[in-house]
Amino acid sequence: MRILINAGPTREKIDPVRFISNRSSGKMGYSLAEAAVALGHTVTLVSGPVCLARPEGLHKFLSIESAEEMARVMKEEFPSCDLAILCAAVADYRPVHPRGQKMKKGEGNLFLELERTEDIALSLGKMKKPGQTLVGFAAETEDLEKNALSKMRKKNFDFIAANQVGLPDRGFASNDNAVTLYRADGTKKELSLKSKKELAGELLQEILR
Ligand code: PMT
Repeated sequence: MRILINAGPTREKIDPVRFISNRSSGKMGYSLAEAAVALGHTVTLVSGPVCLARPEGLHKFLSIESAEEMARVMKEEFPSCDLAILCAAVADYRPVHPRGQKMKKGEGNLFLELERTEDIALSLGKMKKPGQTLVGFAAETEDLEKNALSKMRKKNFDFIAANQVGLPDRGFASNDNAVTLYRADGTKKELSLKSKKELAGELLQEILR
């Protein structure tokens, strides 16, 4: 099976030395890519800037920085995959006017105007063809189930892996995670707290079942 996975954060440029980003380390997405390779699948990994070694045995590794680059690469790769897993933490906003030179500080406050980035999952959900499976993640600090189910419907996902973030022992940057995997047919599976490597294997098993 041809599996496309995205992982890590995006960086949205403010000026040549500053950016807006988030706490994603890439560990969850890279673990999924490693687990998929270990099962013998043809895996393309699209990665934001992370400090992890590139998994061995990938079919393709594509490195991006911004949400715009992530959107372009994912839309290019999606038509030729059977399964896409969207684990990346894509920035929802970017500066409207990124500066060409380092901004100088002034006396007063600074206001940055931000604009929405493309919702890549939403775009892929619209492109999805029969036979393709689209899996999203939901990173939530509250109302996990309600928000995850709403994202699954809106973005045309077949599954959504909902994880609680903002806790020290799971979610962003931790070595461990726990998710509830919701299926579009209304069923769900709880996958309890364990290493992201172990969890990735269990998640794939559930998705490919
Ligand atoms: O990288 P780690 O440190 O290991 O942390 C793992 C993780 C917490 C980042 C991961 O498990 C996770 O939850 N990834 C999704 C993070 C996220 O952006 O969730 P969201 O609820 O904001 O977005 C919902 C879905 O839409 C996600 O599949 C996301 O990839 C996608 N999305 C969001 C915004 C956007 N502009 N484009 C998108 O495709």
